[in-house]
Amino acid sequence: MRDGCALTWVRRAGAYVNGTPAVRPPGKAIADNGRPAAALPRVTLHDEPLKALMLPFDSGVLPWPAQGDIAFLRARDGWPLRQYPLRHLRCEQGFKPLADDLREAGLDVRAELDGAADASLVLVLPPRQRDEAQALLARAVAMAAPGARVVAAVANDEGAKSREKDLQQLAGLDGTLTKFHCRVFWTPPLSGAHDAVLQERWQQADAPRPILDGRFRSRPGVFAWDRIDPASALLAAHLPGDLAGRGADLGAGWGYLSAEVLARCPGVTALDLYEAEARAIELARGNLAAQAGRAALFFHWHDVTAGLAEGGYDFIVSNPPFHAHDRGDRPELGQRFIEVAAQSLRRGGRLLLVANRHLPYEATLAQAFASQRVLAEGGGFKVIEAVKGEVAGGVVKADARRSVADE
Ligand SMILES: C[S@@+](CC[C@H](N)C(=O)[O-])C[C@H]1O[C@@H](n2cnc3c(N)ncnc32)[C@H](O)[C@@H]1O
Repeated sequence: MRDGCALTWVRRAGAYVNGTPAVRPPGKAIADNGRPAAALPRVTLHDEPLKALMLPFDSGVLPWPAQGDIAFLRARDGWPLRQYPLRHLRCEQGFKPLADDLREAGLDVRAELDGAADASLVLVLPPRQRDEAQALLARAVAMAAPGARVVAAVANDEGAKSREKDLQQLAGLDGTLTKFHCRVFWTPPLSGAHDAVLQERWQQADAPRPILDGRFRSRPGVFAWDRIDPASALLAAHLPGDLAGRGADLGAGWGYLSAEVLARCPGVTALDLYEAEARAIELARGNLAAQAGRAALFFHWHDVTAGLAEGGYDFIVSNPPFHAHDRGDRPELGQRFIEVAAQSLRRGGRLLLVANRHLPYEATLAQAFASQRVLAEGGGFKVIEAVKGEVAGGVVKADARRSVADE
């Protein structure tokens, strides 16, 4: 199986496990085709790393600072956090659905904190990708005020021991606890005695750089960061050259597919790129800068599962996510992308989708579109073209549908 996206998310409209009701972001156009959103699973119901992160405070091994700002890198909301006074918590989260959750919980959240060395405590949930995780630990140490600690938690199957060694090498360790299939480990109060050379090197470890012979720029941690994803390559190779007008790319990553749309489809006049990872959408902005004169380009840091604010697209392309951070298949993510695409196309508009062959998207496509057909198959992937019905709301009588099975 190809790599999935490192972290994916489906918003759920039901109650949170900690009892805090989920609230839709105000003013956001949430498309709804009638499917109860509560049917979609929420992936942080059991956030073991977050539980582990709070363990040293829960058990009284470490004190929760009484004053001063607390920085939380790769922050996630959840009941283990809510037990503490959070007025001084400053959260950093670049993945939009998680950032939205933190904001809806009333917390101060930014895609990137400014990195000032003034935090009385730095909490970190390092990601799986090594370069990105080392860069994050280096930033965490840099953000600690004199006398502050860095506390990090990682799941055992996401490199807990390696990250623990990293932090030890960088700044020394004062303690470790293991529980919930995770390790939580922390530095002594920092006083500038850490390895400054290593810190400098690691801070650059996930910096943007040229990839693919300089055609694009990318950075460790974003989806398929240093290569063209084979599924996207298959879709690009089978893009109908007559795609024209206003289009969108759902889950645009660092911009590969959009770049191919602009290169292969001369009739495209405008393209909206939607992507949940802040770093990826910024890379896409840079990667498509040279095409800005060729078509109107718009870049949205956005959770596609919440629906799109824009609509009436002539076409949509997507290589949708299908993995959560536990790496299990989450076909409901792709299904939700398909529903949102159907809601956001004009009647007669086309969705061009690529997916792993085993993923069960046909029923959702049949429900939301008037017709679907397989344009290409190869390498375990399928490229599907689906056309939205002429009937209002995309609801088409069954006998008007033409499905893959019919052909
Ligand atoms: C399979 S990758 C495709 C990336 C890119 N289009 C390409 O061809 O390389 C799916 C993308 O969807 C993004 N993503 C995951 N969940 C999302 C969400 N809820 N809303 C928007 N984008 C999301 C991921 O960050 C990832 O960049």
